[in-house]
Amino acid sequence: MIVRPIEGGLEVLAPAKLNLFLEILGKRPDGYHDLESLMVTVDLYDTLTLVDDPSGEVTLRCDDPSLPTGPDNLVIKAAQRLKESSGTTRGVAITLNKAIPAQAGLAGGSSDAASTLIGLDRLWDLQSSPETLDQIAASVGSDVAFFRQGPVAVCRGRGEIVEPWPIFEPLHFVLVCPPVGVSTAAVYRNVVLPETPRGVGEVLEALELGDLTKLGRSLFNRLQPVAERLEPSLGAVEAALAGLVGPLLNGSLMSGSGSAYFGLASDRDAAVEAARRLATLGLGRVRVVTCDP
Ligand code: C5P
Repeated sequence: MIVRPIEGGLEVLAPAKLNLFLEILGKRPDGYHDLESLMVTVDLYDTLTLVDDPSGEVTLRCDDPSLPTGPDNLVIKAAQRLKESSGTTRGVAITLNKAIPAQAGLAGGSSDAASTLIGLDRLWDLQSSPETLDQIAASVGSDVAFFRQGPVAVCRGRGEIVEPWPIFEPLHFVLVCPPVGVSTAAVYRNVVLPETPRGVGEVLEALELGDLTKLGRSLFNRLQPVAERLEPSLGAVEAALAGLVGPLLNGSLMSGSGSAYFGLASDRDAAVEAARRLATLGLGRVRVVTCDP
């Protein structure tokens, strides 16, 4: 997360995330699922500006008219909960410029909420403890706490228990964002629990060794077949990326509950070449993205 001072406030860049591994361990009494996931941030950013509002009000403007800007928006939820928990009388005028597509499995809304928490803690000079910020983060959404600790972490529980993990070299990806979105809740509702869950160990070992071939082979997402059943048009994206595994990519996967897919490349040049080929297929928006250590 990148925070910069601007006139009267702060600008915060909220990164997208990719899941390089996602296993579902079981269903919980609260309706959520216990999971184990390896998440990485990448350099595709929403931009938030936070400007102090002495009236005490919290307001949001967004350049995407399809998104709610009231109490349903995770940014407003995060800001209100931080305001309540801290007791501050200060307010903020927030503007949100979206670049991360919604319903893509890239956690744009969660990242926006995390950026709001971290930015407002600084703007309002609250010096909240990490525990307080994480508690509010988890109450806003399962993926929010991860963004305080990225760029790479193993996430457990319903996603809110975050163990940062070191990487030593940048990871380069080609990212395909199809024009259709997938509902996270619908995907989780339809997932079949595995009898023998896979473990994240192989992925962590590959990261530790810097072995991108092994990492590509270890990519795994339990939710991918579920999303592809709910949205059959995603099969073409899966196939196009899988067709580049070997010559250009080390592996490919759907991120989170979809609909975005990524391919892991050995270097930036391979990712750029994969993007060039994929862009001709009309599958959706194609980009090269990087996770920097
Ligand atoms: O926590 P968040 O609001 O991002 O989750 C969206 C939906 O995804 C939840 O309402 C739930 O249906 C599902 N979910 C789940 N288990 C998780 C995370 C999300 O069942 N660990």
